[in-house]
Formats: sequence, C-alpha cells, structure tokens
Amino acid sequence: MDKIVVEGGSRLVGDIPIGGAKNAALPLLASALLPNGPSTFKNVPLLQDVATMGKLLRQLGCEVDGKHTMVIHPPTAKKAKLEAPYELVKTMRASIVVLGPLVARYGRARVSQPGGCAIGTRPIDQHLKGLAAMGAKIHLDHGYVDVECKRLKGATIVLDMPTVTGCENLMMAAALAKGRTVIENAAREPEVEDLGLVLNKMGAKVTGAGTAIITIEGVDELQPIEHTIIPDRIEAGTFAIAAALTRGDVLLQGARAEHMDAIIAKLRAAGSTVTVEAGGVRVRGGGDILPIDITTQPHPGFPTDMQAQFMVLATQAKGQSMIREMIFENRYMHVPELSRMGADIHVDGRTAIIRGGTKLSGAAVMATDLRASASLVLAGLVASGKTEVLRVYHLDRGYETIEKKLRGVGAKVKRVKA
Ligand code: UD1
Repeated sequence: MDKIVVEGGSRLVGDIPIGGAKNAALPLLASALLPNGPSTFKNVPLLQDVATMGKLLRQLGCEVDGKHTMVIHPPTAKKAKLEAPYELVKTMRASIVVLGPLVARYGRARVSQPGGCAIGTRPIDQHLKGLAAMGAKIHLDHGYVDVECKRLKGATIVLDMPTVTGCENLMMAAALAKGRTVIENAAREPEVEDLGLVLNKMGAKVTGAGTAIITIEGVDELQPIEHTIIPDRIEAGTFAIAAALTRGDVLLQGARAEHMDAIIAKLRAAGSTVTVEAGGVRVRGGGDILPIDITTQPHPGFPTDMQAQFMVLATQAKGQSMIREMIFENRYMHVPELSRMGADIHVDGRTAIIRGGTKLSGAAVMATDLRASASLVLAGLVASGKTEVLRVYHLDRGYETIEKKLRGVGAKVKRVKA
C-alpha cells in the first residue's frame, strides 16, 4: 500500500489550488438520478469517494463519463437497478444519498444499511423517519433497507438533529414528491445550500437551503442541468493549518471565506493572520501560536471535519488548549498516533486537553479515518526527521494529490508507491 513520507521543517509559501468539495460532490452526483436526461458537473474532485459514487451510479444503471467534468445519464425506469450493495456502501457511508433520489424517481430502492464506522455508530434513523413521513413503506431485512412508494407525498419533518446527508436525502426525495415538504432543524452546511441550488436549476422549488427550515414544493418532473461544484472548505482549512503550523504564507486559491467563518475565527484566535483576497483566502503564520478552545458543532459552528487538524496546531501552541468533540463519539483516533510523535494530549470522554509547546518527532503512523490521516501529514510538517503516514487510502478518499499540493508550496512530501 502507498505511503506518504514527510520531511519536517520547511516553511510553506505560495499558492495552493482548492478543489471541488467532496461533501458537495457526493449528493450532487446522486441528484443526477432525478431528471430525465444527462446532467453535467464541473469542478468534481478526483477522489476515491467520488470514484466510489461513480461506481455505485453505474451499478444503478447510469452512464457515467469524465473526471473533473462528469456527465451522468440516469437510466430509464426499465433499465434501472435499484440496489446499492453492501460491498460499495461499506466502503463509503455517504452512498446512502442515493436512497432519496431512487425512491422519488423510480418508486423503490434497496440500500445496504451503512452500520457503524471508525468514528461512531452513525445511524440513518432520521433519513428513514423522513421518508416514512412522506408515505414510504420501509422494511429492514438481512442488513438492507427496502423503501417503496409509488409517489412520495410532501410532509413536515422535524429532524432530531441537523443531519447533513439525512437532510440532503429528504430534499432530493421531496423534489419529486406531491405537494410541499418542510424540513425543520435542517442542516445548514454550504453543501446543503449547493444541493438546493442544483435542485432549483433542475426545476424544483426549494427555499431556505442553508437555513434551519427548508421548504420544497415537489414537481412532476425535473430537467437535466450543468453545475460547478463549490470549493472544499475542509481541504482549504487543512492547508490553512499547514500554513499556520509552519509560520508560512499561503493563498488558498478559490477558497470561499463565507463558508469558513468558524475555521477562520479559530485560526485568528491561534495567532494567524487571515485575509480575504480576490483570488481566495490568505493565511499567514508567524510569531507565537496561541492556545485555542474548540467545540465541534453543526454548521455554522466549528466543523468536526477540522477537529484533528486544529489539534495538531494546538500541540505547537504556547499553553494549554481544549477541544470538545460533540458530533461523533469516537473521533480521537489521531490522538495515540500524535502521542507517539511526542504530543502531550489527555482525552477524557468527549474532551481533549492538549499541552502545547511539545517538539514532535517523525515516526511511522497511521489512522483509520480521513481527517485523522490528514492531521498526521500536518504533524509531519513540523516534526523533526521523517514521518511516514501509512494507509494512504484514507487520505485519497478526501484529498486530491495532497503531496503535490504541499510540495508546490515548499514542503518535502512524497508518495512512495507500494
Ligand atoms: C456529513 C459529512 C461528514 C461530516 C458530518 C458532520 C458528507 C458526505 N459527510 O456526514 O464529512 O463529518 O456530516 O458534519 O457530507 N445521526 C443520527 N441519525 C441519523 C443521522 C445522523 O443519529 O439518521 C447523527 C450522527 O450519528 C452524528 C450526527 O447525527 O452524530 C451528525 O451526523 P450527519 O450530519 O448525519 O453526518 P453525515 O451526513 O453522515
């Protein structure tokens, strides 16, 4: 298996182009099941998770072409195969976002239940509760969820928590339902807003996407569209930490500051200078790194997907930091690996206390989660000697050529092929 080898100690200076958002791309590609013709998506990131979604869509009967620009041609009702098998769903939980569009367009779907994953149990009860409220019959057997409904009906759904993919599934289902659906306590992530934009381009009537109450007037038919995917705020945030850690000066090309308020606020609290420029967001480190206090929350709160990266920054701060992980119950897998590199971190339940100012030393490390793996690459940038990050397939799920992008701003990083 490939590994990433990082030689620490370089100051990062230059521009890093930010790719399309993984978490926007996955539901958007699934939304191509809804209209009656081929949709085109631009700025699609070349990631393992996107490849998995392409594979799943092909399995469902879609024709899928292209890479950074993807064209997806949904199947006719006759040719559609309405099953998302365990083999694919187990490699990517977000496969669940095909459920809503399949039921809405074809009246039926059989999707493997995702089950738990390394960072927590991650149930899909809210997705199913919403579909049931819209009139779907739901049956669980042999690890699969079977959902059936000739035509979904609009309903008012109050989510127990603002689940991102749950909300996206229900928006796509509602777009072809009869009547009005209101989703309350909706997820407010920019990726949910982007999906609302796409559904509207297709001819649905969505208002409030990006706020806590989303209203969708269902229509009988949707039209194919063309859409450019928003930049990835988590990829941008990860490179922002690389700049802050190395006291560098990096322009995150194309990043949108308005999607990154909580990240930018914590970068500034940690002593970095963040400026918004025409070409993107510039992050300058320098001087002392200050301790931070972070609690992960649904958007617009601080994103759980940036928790591991900020923890690395905290290991270099002058003082003690505290992080509380409130979204996933087991998202501290990077801690033992960072400790092996010399970090001083104490975890008690959902709280981590990080005593800063420790010198990190390079080691062979690995993690079982995408963002945890990214945090280990970041740690390698300031560690003495060589850090080898194993199990690179986790990184490839969410970062397109992370080693090239870091090399482009002066880091000593390479991929060693197995
Ligand atoms: C999405 C993101 C992921 C991010 C997460 C939280 C995608 C493809 N992935 O994942 O990168 O880390 O949001 O910002 O967009 N929950 C339930 N029942 C449900 C659904 C969720 O209890 O039916 C719980 C989860 O266990 C978790 C919380 O709600 O504790 C939020 O999860 P959710 O927003 O659904 O995460 P994902 O959509 O899977």
